[in-house]
Parts: sequence; C-alpha cells; structure tokens
Amino acid sequence: MPYILSIDQGTSGTKAVLFDETGSLVHRHNENHGQFYPQPGWVEHDPVEIFEKTCQAVDACIKEAGVSPAGVKAVSISNQRETVVVWDRRTGQPVYPAVVWQCSRAENICRELDTPGVRKIVLEKTGLVLSPYFSAAKVKWILDYVEGAREAAEAGWLMAGTIDSWLIYKLTGGRVHATEPSNASRTQLYNIHKRCWDRELLELFTIPGSMMPEVMPSDSIFGPLAVTCLADQSTPLAGVLGDSQAALFGQQCTRPGMTKVTYGTGSSIMRNIGAKPYISREGLVTSVGWQLGDDLTYVAEGNINCSGAAIKWLVDDLELIPDSKCTEALAAGVKDTEGVYLVPAFVGLGAPYWDSDARAALVGMTRGTKKAHVVRAVLESMVYQVRDILDLMQEESGTPTEEIRVDGGPTRNSFLMQFQSDISRIPVVVNELEELSAIGAAYMGGLSAGVWPDMDTLCSLRTKDTRFLPDMAEQRREQLYHGWKAAVAKVLTK
Ligand code: G3P
Repeated sequence: MPYILSIDQGTSGTKAVLFDETGSLVHRHNENHGQFYPQPGWVEHDPVEIFEKTCQAVDACIKEAGVSPAGVKAVSISNQRETVVVWDRRTGQPVYPAVVWQCSRAENICRELDTPGVRKIVLEKTGLVLSPYFSAAKVKWILDYVEGAREAAEAGWLMAGTIDSWLIYKLTGGRVHATEPSNASRTQLYNIHKRCWDRELLELFTIPGSMMPEVMPSDSIFGPLAVTCLADQSTPLAGVLGDSQAALFGQQCTRPGMTKVTYGTGSSIMRNIGAKPYISREGLVTSVGWQLGDDLTYVAEGNINCSGAAIKWLVDDLELIPDSKCTEALAAGVKDTEGVYLVPAFVGLGAPYWDSDARAALVGMTRGTKKAHVVRAVLESMVYQVRDILDLMQEESGTPTEEIRVDGGPTRNSFLMQFQSDISRIPVVVNELEELSAIGAAYMGGLSAGVWPDMDTLCSLRTKDTRFLPDMAEQRREQLYHGWKAAVAKVLTK
C-alpha cells in the first residue's frame, strides 16, 4: 500500500500526518514548538527548533504507524504562511528567529512606505493590501535591525524564505532553495500576474533579489529527502502549499466559485476565482491558490479576526459557561436571541468594514435576557460575519456561491452549521476529515509522485459529508441579518 506523509507546519506546532492511497488518515503525530514574545506585539519562532520538531514528527509518525519507510511515496508540506526566516548560505544557520505572521514589529516600516501610489502598486501587483502582516516588511526589518545582516545580504550570503522554503532547504540537506506560488503570493514581493519576484517591490522594500528562493510549481518534486528515516529511500519532497490554500485544495474546491470556510480562533473564507485574478475593491486579498504544472489558480480570501475566540471569551473571561461544547444545547434551547447581537470587534473589524478602532458590543439586551440568549448571540455572530464576506465575494466575482465547504472545530456544532446555512441561503457541507490542510498538500504530492493519476481520481476519494440545507423563511432571514447590520453600525467609528 503506498502512503503519503504530509507535514503540516502550523503556528503552534508541526503535525506529521500519514495518508494511504484511499485518502484515509492512517496516523498523526504532533510536536509543539516554543512561542516567543520579546516585546508586546512581537511574535517569534525558533527555525531550528521547527526543523528539528518536524524531523521528530516525521520519524515518530512512521514508527508509530508501523509502516515501512519504503512505502512512503512522497512527503508534502502545508505551512503557516507569511512567517519568514533569513539564513546564511555558508552555515545553513538562521541569522535571527523566524518573524511570525502575527508579529507587528514592521508596522513603522509600512507606515513610512505608505503613500496612495505605493498602496496602489502593491495592491495591483500582489493582490495584497500594504501591511506588516506579509513577509516583505518583516524581511526588511531583519535587514535593517540585525547587525551585519544587510551587508551579508548585499554580499550574496543570505537566503530568505517563508517556512516552506526553510523546510525544503533543510529537508533536502541544503541543496534546494525554493518555494511555490501559494506561499510566494503572500510575501508582498511576488507579482501574481507576471508570476515572478517583482523588481520594483524588491527595491521598495530594499531586499536584494539574490536572497529570494526559486518559485517552482506547487506540484513539483522539490528534491529527495536527506534527513529522517526516509533519507535512505531518497523519498521525494513533492507537493507544497500554504495552509489556507492547502485546505481549499483538500476540500477539492478546484472549480471557480467553489468556496471553503475554516472556523477557528478567527475564520478564513477562501474562494477559487479561476485562472484570471481580479483585485478586490473592498479589501479582500487576492493570492495564488496553487500552480499545477503551468496552470495557475487564483483565490480571493477574507479573514475574520474574531470567531471561535468569542466562545473562548465566554468560557475563559466571562466564565459564563464551562466549555465550548455546551454552546450548542444552550443556543438551541431558545427560540432566538430575542434581539440580542454580539459584534465581536475585540480587535476591530476586518472585511468588509475595515475599522480597526471599532470595539465589541453586546446590544439589544432587555431585563429578560438570559445566558442562553447571549451564548446564541455569540454563535450567530460567527455566522453573520461569514455571510458578510460571502456576499462581498459573490458581488465582486459576479457569480453565485453554490455551497460552502467547511472545516475546523466549530463545524461539530450542528446549531451553528444549520444557522450558517439558513443565513447564507446555501448548503453547508461539513467534511468528515479533520486535517484538510494536510490532505490538500498530500493530494498535491500524490499527484506529482504518481500515487493518483488525476483530479478526477482525487475527487472520487472524497469522504462522507454532512450537509446542512437552508430552512428559514426569506423574510425572517433578512430581518435577522438587518438586525446584525444595525448592530455593527453602532460600533463603527467612521
Ligand atoms: O496566514 C497565517 C496562517 O497561514 C496560519 O495558519 O493554521 O498556523 O494558524 P495556522
């Protein structure tokens, strides 16, 4: 039986997930790594620790599963995006910790660069809004502030890369410095139309082009593994994707218009927009989904800052409920919220409101408001925010969304899924599989290693889904959604 081993290198840890040729999850092993917060708003990881934990996870997964290393036909990678590592090609050692996507240290850099002209160039070329969230400003920060880094970079000694590049480099024993377009398109340095590092943007961020990895198709065979128990077989490292795009591929959203929602601390909504990118007028970002051979697929993405985090707030901070599991029964136990809405703008509001000064509010309470109404309002806020973005995506793309494929812990809450379907007026399809990013990368790797011949075969592997269908009168739906919009209007500052 052939296997694919998928490395899911995420923000909090690294999972090695083994799949068989039917796409079934055989075994999974997780290793967490340290989170470092040297100053408020700064977040760092240790790249060497991430590499070592990755190797440990791979070895442990194969051993615990009891499979022979010879049976593993490919190792693929899905990874946290935007996080950057800069290392020295002479030693293979990082010159500084990894600067994590959540880290806001480069805010000043973006503020200094920020003019209407620069914003326009960045948006048109990369599909992204100018922001310290993306890799470019983080690399510039390292070159500006780490002693000797700029001189070494200009002398051609330094290499830069997102986490996929770092792992490809280390896992191939330092032979390959490469990335692929789903990750490259999140750096703010990649021209998504011309499909290359953009000279003007490299100059804007004062980053020498010699630091950048080669951009190869996502389904490339990047090289043979030089470390772990797979080194003896020279198992190919094949199939690499940024984790959100990997989840879209794992959900098999391979045709334009197909959309996935990942519910987590925040939520990520991503739509396949096909072979031609369009630039959002309302602040959704456009990235590359994947490159299969020569063919590029683009995606639009909208992110919600606070989704499952609001449930955590109920449990940990308000101590209103003991755990998140009880939210379903509480919410389903009342007919509705009796007009209560939570606008969870704890850290401002993202798309489509873009108001970072807005703050959260619980509105519409009466003396009769009970715990169940508040809990239900929290769950409903997750749903309304997804509808906001789905509406925007539909409007900008000009094509309707036929269904949403969903994943993440909160999808086990049937009340939430039914309400999402009711409010969005579309079927909500819950994938039985939990590791959507890992399987997405494994699909990519399995295609290139010949485990699966084509996309049709992949689609036939899709496991059982649970479908929630809209079942709410139009008038009621619009009345509820109108109430949400009115609640949001109360917290907006501009
Ligand atoms: O854009 C950041 C994202 O890729 C991080 O994903 O799953 O590690 O939180 P995760």
